[in-house]
Amino acid sequence: MRIITLDGPAGAGKSSTARLLADRLGWCHMDTGAMYRAVALAALKRDVPLENENELAELAASLDIQFAHDSVFLNGKNVSAEIRVDHVTTATRSVADAPSVREEMKKMQRGLSKKFNLVTEGRDQGTVVFPHAELKIYLDASPSARAARRYHERVEQGDKSRSMNEILHSQIERDQGDRERPVGAMEAAKDAIIINTDGLSLEKVVEQVLGLAHDRGLTSD
Ligand code: DC
Repeated sequence: MRIITLDGPAGAGKSSTARLLADRLGWCHMDTGAMYRAVALAALKRDVPLENENELAELAASLDIQFAHDSVFLNGKNVSAEIRVDHVTTATRSVADAPSVREEMKKMQRGLSKKFNLVTEGRDQGTVVFPHAELKIYLDASPSARAARRYHERVEQGDKSRSMNEILHSQIERDQGDRERPVGAMEAAKDAIIINTDGLSLEKVVEQVLGLAHDRGLTSD
């Protein structure tokens, strides 16, 4: 099947871009951050210690994670909102740092790519999971633009619990963790096209990626 990878830091616009792109192409959107978050949620619910890598990997291998209608389902239950609360975001860090969990996630992600054409978003999709993807994009944006995007998303959902500055600081910290993890670190693949989304509308970004997909023959049947 066909694959477009979208990697990059939090708040650069990966999810909105991936969703709209998948919609335009009639492909599936695989949000791999949501997959790591779902494992973290399951670990918290089942009291699996976050420092026990073996248990976390066993848990990850046992889970059924699926995407449908812009939602993520964990063992059949829609957990889209639950995986985004702050304590799950914090726990996701330990889960994503564990190399054997990443190995399980890679298997699951490659498994989905055998069944569906994918627009997949994450940190390591173009580098580790799909090094042979037909089109790799790395979406970036300035820290302030990324914090502002997240802040407005949260406010739209009625959550004003954190200021833009707090979000900026936790994003910087999270980016550092994402860049420095020994396995699956966030980085642009050598053959990725880097798009800086500062000042670009979602529509413009999607147009640009669709143009590239078209040039590579990905939009024809
Ligand atoms: O994209 P996100 O914020 O939902 O991702 C949640 C966490 O999972 C984030 O800290 C980065 C990590 N992650 C990862 O390590 N590899 C991926 N392919 C996707 C996300």
